[in-house]
Amino acid sequence: MPSSATGTAAIRAAEARRDDPLFVDPWAANLSGTGGGNWLDDRAQSPALQVIAIRSRYFDDVLPRAVTEDRVTQVVLLAAGYDTRAFRLPFPPTSRVFELDDADTLRRKEDVLRTAGAEPACERRAVPADLCGAWAEALVGAGFDASVPSCWVLEGILFYLPQETVTAVLDRVSDLAATGSLLGFDIVNGTTLTHPLTRPWIEMQARLGAPWLGTMDDPAAELGPRGWDVTVVQVGEEPANHGRWPYPVPPRDLQGVPRNWFVTARRE
Ligand SMILES: C[S@@+](CC[C@H](N)C(=O)[O-])C[C@H]1O[C@@H](n2cnc3c(N)ncnc32)[C@H](O)[C@@H]1O
Repeated sequence: MPSSATGTAAIRAAEARRDDPLFVDPWAANLSGTGGGNWLDDRAQSPALQVIAIRSRYFDDVLPRAVTEDRVTQVVLLAAGYDTRAFRLPFPPTSRVFELDDADTLRRKEDVLRTAGAEPACERRAVPADLCGAWAEALVGAGFDASVPSCWVLEGILFYLPQETVTAVLDRVSDLAATGSLLGFDIVNGTTLTHPLTRPWIEMQARLGAPWLGTMDDPAAELGPRGWDVTVVQVGEEPANHGRWPYPVPPRDLQGVPRNWFVTARRE
């Protein structure tokens, strides 16, 4: 089965073919390969997939700010997949990007990028590890320094993880993030798993062997006690719309509706 990483790359590749791209990823088409197109076809090219382009742009905007304005020198992409930000964002050469994913995904990424002659803007370290296992130890073993601030991105991953793993990963990130660190992730609320509007998508993902499991109803309430000052945007709200989100955006005070949160947080 084509992986979610190839599907995400296929959407990023399609972005570069638009007249109004939210970003251009020159390596996305090669990273997608044929698997990416098949992944999209399996999902009937749903308009909901626009969320991937919108969130890519959202975190593209956050990351350079972290390394310039906040002077963070370590960026950690957990479940990095075929994210090419180390190559395409203006990170200072002194910054260090850690890319953590399974060994096969990282190996194929290296092969494709090397063949394409891609050169990272900064220092880049691949960390093969499982987020359900001893990933933090692998990250520290790869040179991550928990005593200085870091910027963490978990994009397109938390809803694939069991709820207890979501909690464990965020606990571990909070342990490793020094004061002044930044965190970004996307996640759906619990209603998304059961609501009639989103249930067909949830059932399709389960049928395709990639069930959505992890949710968060109130990111500020979850992360606040872990020492994070949280900003939450839902897809479709500004600045997470760009004229691309095809559905109505539910008001924040409406109960019992599906939501897709883009979360950013600073460690106080
Ligand atoms: C939808 S892709 C997103 C990749 C990347 N963050 C992006 O936005 O392009 C999900 C990624 O999570 C990785 N992944 C899934 N479960 C994982 C786990 N338990 N540990 C590490 N990586 C995992 C997959 O290999 C895949 O690359």
